[in-house]
Amino acid sequence: MPRVIELIDEDAASLAEACDGLAAVGVDFDDPERLDNAARWLRRLGNNKQFLGDLLIAALAQRHREDVLDSSYGPQVVMLAPPNGNFFIRANLWPSTDEHMLRASGGTSFVYGLPHDHNFSFLTLGYFGPGYWSDYYEYDYGEVVGARDEPVPSLRFVERSRLEEGKLMLYRAHRDVHAQHPADSLSVSLNIMHTTGAQGWLDQYRFDLDKRQIGAIVSGGPSEALMRIAVGLGGDQALDLAERFAHHHPSDRMRLACWDALAGMATDAASRDAVWQRAELSGSRLVAAEALARRCELFA
Ligand SMILES: [Fe+2]
Repeated sequence: MPRVIELIDEDAASLAEACDGLAAVGVDFDDPERLDNAARWLRRLGNNKQFLGDLLIAALAQRHREDVLDSSYGPQVVMLAPPNGNFFIRANLWPSTDEHMLRASGGTSFVYGLPHDHNFSFLTLGYFGPGYWSDYYEYDYGEVVGARDEPVPSLRFVERSRLEEGKLMLYRAHRDVHAQHPADSLSVSLNIMHTTGAQGWLDQYRFDLDKRQIGAIVSGGPSEALMRIAVGLGGDQALDLAERFAHHHPSDRMRLACWDALAGMATDAASRDAVWQRAELSGSRLVAAEALARRCELFA
């Protein structure tokens, strides 16, 4: 499960001070000194019980007509410090079952009950309220390729616990899995997210806990959609690029998207099967597994 960090620091920091303190040495959770620095600034920011309320009131008063289009997050997430160097800071709101928004929108709108890992490491701190509940698991990222229904023998339950106020934890990318459940009453957590240039190409999975299988890759990016559109429009260059990416792109997810796009252009089941036969032999374990499944579906 995420590593609990015992760090006592009574100082309180403003958001600007925390950002400056993080930027001064950079964020890298694999480096013990930078991890300690980031944890310390998150602790200090968490000790400041005024800043988030002030920020939310100011946003409501002054920015209510602005479109919030600069992140892919929904209203559950408040971006506190946008991506800057290799980190950003956010606050997450965790409604309880007593909250109207949860009853109206359902738990899936708040990622409740969705077992998942993360394709990034991040620090989290219980800031307000009793904290969301989580069932924590761990698995070995290296043993899977990310195909749907792929067995994950290493997936194992660790414990159920909640992110109580003041609890500070490091979620480890591609290792910690959790299924979250509603907080007992409205809660807020603060996160420092570590970002890297490669992150968009690293996969995040949804899991089927009962079957101990991969559910699906949930971290699709815009490049896959653009490829599908370009191939669908039928241009020679798009088809050529899809063929090359299908065989050589560093991301298996992108390779699969290319094969999907190419198969989508086939006009009948036999020619679609021919595309997936080529895909099976293209040198990617993910593509081979998905190609086999697609072929089975074709003739089911
Ligand atoms: Fe999560």
